[in-house]
Amino acid sequence: MSVQSTRKTDLMVRIVFRGIQYEIPENLTVIQALEHAGHVLTRGCGCRGGVCGACVMAFRMPDDHRLHVGLACQTVAVNGMDIQQLLYFPATHRGADLSRLKPRLSDLLSIHPEVAKCLGCYTCTKSCPQDIQVGEAMAAVLREDWEVAYQISFECIMCGMCTSRCPAELSPHQILMVVRRLYGRDILPMPEYLNQRLEEIRNGVFNDELQELRTMDNEAIRERFQRYLEQSNVGPPKAPGKAGEEDIHRGERRDRGDDE
Ligand code: SF4
Ligand code: SF4
Ligand code: FES
Repeated sequence: MSVQSTRKTDLMVRIVFRGIQYEIPENLTVIQALEHAGHVLTRGCGCRGGVCGACVMAFRMPDDHRLHVGLACQTVAVNGMDIQQLLYFPATHRGADLSRLKPRLSDLLSIHPEVAKCLGCYTCTKSCPQDIQVGEAMAAVLREDWEVAYQISFECIMCGMCTSRCPAELSPHQILMVVRRLYGRDILPMPEYLNQRLEEIRNGVFNDELQELRTMDNEAIRERFQRYLEQSNVGPPKAPGKAGEEDIHRGERRDRGDDE
């Protein structure tokens, strides 16, 4: 296999992407490594912060028979990694009218009858790059403990990896999204602060500010946003291709299989 050279630094690692081997500097996330190698990622890359689920990939390591999955923006490229991006995994889309459903198992089964075929094997859990206990959430759905299913799956980023590995051919991420929607709509109490803020908006408390924003150009809005970030201790968004140290360490921990 020929090796594609990239700009050299002291410490390089070799990865394979779509059958081509590249030498890239160590300590880059997979997304950064692919960009360093000259790929322009127009699909399979979004937030770069482990939130959007766009960058799922499958990979194997030398001397390891297992197929690994992960987020390319959160996983450090290490020597010998053989990578393929998984841009999209077909899931079940029923187009159901959720307004006619209640948060109960019989209603869920009316649009996803296959839920009853869940084997309780927890393969979905093992494949989740977010370390979500997907199998536990599915078990909670089946015993109608919707609060537990909602809480467990709340941080799902809809990457579809659980669906790609389910031996019963279910789409756990789609099923759990229906559960969260029905639970959030019918059971979860509306937070008081949200009620208050909606009331304030209805009463016109923010009308002047909103009117001002409507008249501002992009540059002025950008400056206002920057001032807000400085005053509110909220970190600025990361620039493309600049995953922070924490991202890299998070990827390293995941590669080693350590708990976060
Ligand atoms: S539950 Fe499934 S879709 Fe959600 S983050 Fe985990 S693997 Fe991805
Ligand atoms: S992988 Fe599929 S069958 Fe196994 S527990 Fe998860 S949803 Fe159920
Ligand atoms: S780019 Fe959004 S999760 Fe990786």
